[in-house]
Amino acid sequence: MEKGSESSMMEHIETAAAFVRTRSKITPDLGIILGSGLGALADAIRAEAVIPYAQIPGFAPTTVEGHAGNFILGHLQGKAVVAMQGRVHYYEGHSLADTVFPVRVMRRLGARVLLVSNAAGGLNRQWKAGDLMIITDHINFMGANPLMGPNDPALGPRFPDMSQAYDPALVALAEQAAVAEGILIRTGVYVGVHGPSYETPAELRMLRGWGADAVGMSTVPEVIAARHMGMRVLGITAITDMATGEKIATVTHEEVMAVAKRIEPMFVRLVKHIVKELPL
Ligand code: HPA
Repeated sequence: MEKGSESSMMEHIETAAAFVRTRSKITPDLGIILGSGLGALADAIRAEAVIPYAQIPGFAPTTVEGHAGNFILGHLQGKAVVAMQGRVHYYEGHSLADTVFPVRVMRRLGARVLLVSNAAGGLNRQWKAGDLMIITDHINFMGANPLMGPNDPALGPRFPDMSQAYDPALVALAEQAAVAEGILIRTGVYVGVHGPSYETPAELRMLRGWGADAVGMSTVPEVIAARHMGMRVLGITAITDMATGEKIATVTHEEVMAVAKRIEPMFVRLVKHIVKELPL
């Protein structure tokens, strides 16, 4: 977004939404954010428009390997959806307000539910790399909040409630979908960190002590913005590495991507089942 621009946030959102509508008339009920290595779900979407972020006014382009930057409008399991194939991260240098801007556009286009996914490190000692987790709550440890700055009451309240950031009915639906698909599913707390350096063992032990089950560098800002606008949220995490801080376990982006790719088919199956069952 342009700094020092006279236009309000709402006008920026409307400009972006109007541009998207020139490419597709679909009114999405569901927004989907596809995290690191999980972009293949996009292939299951019957797409009407695939729009590179760089073309959409106000969208920041993604710079991270493994993150294609496309806004997709189409149908998945008969539901009208808008999907982000790849996301922008805080560590890329954008403001948090900019990283959540596409979520605001999703809501403006019509989406009332947000399904957000990510790859993360596992802090829970019982788990292993390759597991899938439904997010039940989060800890914002990013040192910032996407709602910093002036608040437009037309978007949402100044002090939005976060007591049920992740919709309990959607968590239950996701758990049932996993059982139906024969997929082992975990539930737990996601802690969002700034990145881009991975955590030290001391940091990992601290985060687990706080009650977090998984650690990653995304999702929390998007969920805060979605809740600000009254969207219902479902979060799914692919555990790509075990980051317990007890034995020296190095982690690399290549390993994270490789494990996410391994989990991807199971993730796609789970999400397709969830979307089929979603009451929209
Ligand atoms: N830490 C932080 N972010 C991550 C990790 C991790 O271990 N794995 C994937 N994303």
